[in-house]
Amino acid sequence: MAPRMAAWALAVGTLGGLGCRQDMHDQPKYKPFRRSDFFGDERSARPLVEDTVARGQLREDAAYFTGKQGTAPVDVLPVPVTPALLRRGQERFTIYCTPCHGQTGRGDGMVVQRGYRRPPSFHIDRLRNEKAGYLYDVMTSGFGAMPDYATQVAPPDRWAIVAYVRALQLSENARLEDVPAEERAALAAAPLVPSAGEVTTPGAAGSAPGLPPPGPAAGAPGAVPARPASEPPPSQRPRANEPAGAPAATASPHRSPGQERR
Ligand code: HEC
Repeated sequence: MAPRMAAWALAVGTLGGLGCRQDMHDQPKYKPFRRSDFFGDERSARPLVEDTVARGQLREDAAYFTGKQGTAPVDVLPVPVTPALLRRGQERFTIYCTPCHGQTGRGDGMVVQRGYRRPPSFHIDRLRNEKAGYLYDVMTSGFGAMPDYATQVAPPDRWAIVAYVRALQLSENARLEDVPAEERAALAAAPLVPSAGEVTTPGAAGSAPGLPPPGPAAGAPGAVPARPASEPPPSQRPRANEPAGAPAATASPHRSPGQERR
């Protein structure tokens, strides 16, 4: 009984709809950028309703998302500092910050060398003493002539960059006493690889006895056994983000190899 009725219904439906029912084809929906006759501005794409939050996007943790507790910048990073975080920070810093701030954070990036306003060095006392949340806030909101990087750099990466800037600051202010006593001997024995900036300086700064003359060979790892007393400032020393044995002989005196390539 029931199957027969269903068959009837199907037959009637098919006949009745022949050639004129296109519901599945012409759905009452908007395709992207399609014009709307309904809304005053004729756009089918509508802005988000004010004061609504998409699921999972409620940024309740103010310290994490703004770098501030109330109006005061947070003192310490709200995330654990791990080698992975530092590596990520180094990578993001190199992409987004070095064009102006330079690889060492001295404010001598390529854009600045081409005439952009020079930012302060990260190694001045004021910025070394600034709280972690302050650095985060500069990226989030911008600062003076510096645009904000909120769109380009998501909150987790902003904290990674803060961690890396802190590491940069430490590296420029490290003292021998900061190295555990038992590690110091190893430090003295470790070969130092000269960067391009350094290789050009021994002549000018007076090379120390035992120092090989500047040239292609000096770029080889382990070529320089000791540092002269008149060593260049720490900023010109090689760092983790510069490949060892970079093409030293071809670089110009006032640029580090990283800046030449990036
Ligand atoms: C387009 C160039 C440019 C880029 C890219 C840039 N900055 Fe800056 N930054 C500046 C300039 C210029 C200033 C100084 C602004 C001023 O004093 O008006 C500055 C200042 C700063 C300061 C110091 C603020 C103070 O209190 O003096 C910090 C911290 C900083 N930038 C961090 C960053 C970080 C982190 C990045 C990467 C996410 C970055 N900047 C990317 C140009 C840049």
